[in-house]
Amino acid sequence: MSKRQFTAYEINQLTKHGLDPFTLADIINPDIPIEYITCFSEFRGRDFEVDPSVLIPRIETEEIIDIALKHVAHKRSVIYCDVGTGSGAIGISFGIELAKRNLTYYGILSDISPKALNMARDNLESLMPQDKCIKLIKSDLMNDYPEIEFDVIFANLPYIPSTRIKQLNSSVKDYEPIGALDGGKDGLKYIRKLLDQAPKFLKSKGVIILEVDDTHTDTSEFDGHWSIDVQPDINQKNRFWIISKK
Ligand SMILES: C[S@@+](CC[C@H](N)C(=O)[O-])C[C@H]1O[C@@H](n2cnc3c(N)ncnc32)[C@H](O)[C@@H]1O
Repeated sequence: MSKRQFTAYEINQLTKHGLDPFTLADIINPDIPIEYITCFSEFRGRDFEVDPSVLIPRIETEEIIDIALKHVAHKRSVIYCDVGTGSGAIGISFGIELAKRNLTYYGILSDISPKALNMARDNLESLMPQDKCIKLIKSDLMNDYPEIEFDVIFANLPYIPSTRIKQLNSSVKDYEPIGALDGGKDGLKYIRKLLDQAPKFLKSKGVIILEVDDTHTDTSEFDGHWSIDVQPDINQKNRFWIISKK
């Protein structure tokens, strides 16, 4: 195995978490993501615990919280959910922002993976130890959701088209969970199902905020029921669908 060359960012992360880069360089596989070595990933300035059962939260995703905050700026109480929560990065970060603004909130964080839910629970306990308003549930999309209408539905579901998985970097395809990546033939498999289920779970003025692949620019198949605004991420790649009822 070749000696691993750490980047400055990786050296920072290792030392921050008490690990010695010089020792690790000889024994760590060159492709394993640094976050799975330190067991933490930064999201909006907070350390979320991660392991290979959950996707490493991405910097591009951070903006989804700001988009949602704009939508609830006029409200005193917010009911929201995070479908496919993984480490809980989106749902917990949004809860923290609402609590900081003294808003009343109720959140449901869900995933199909029990291991991901355990990780999200650990993160909720360490990042929002006083919280009593966020619930974690196991659910295939929204199949097992209680009958609640939400102000905000977040979903960063697997969206990479299946044929592209083998072209991903080894650090992603060989280490991150395939169940968090593969979005079926065109990457829209889960998004289609979610948008079929979502109408009864969304308030009339509510919003669904999805993270999508940058190739997902044609939203015309959803035109019948939804108004969809496609927005770019910080790298100017199409990344978010902001969806409201027609
Ligand atoms: C791309 S990861 C996103 C994780 C996290 N929301 C984030 O932004 O870092 C997708 C997540 O969706 C979950 N997932 C996949 N299929 C699902 C389904 N049918 N129902 C619910 N969650 C699902 C995966 O387990 C994974 O945690």
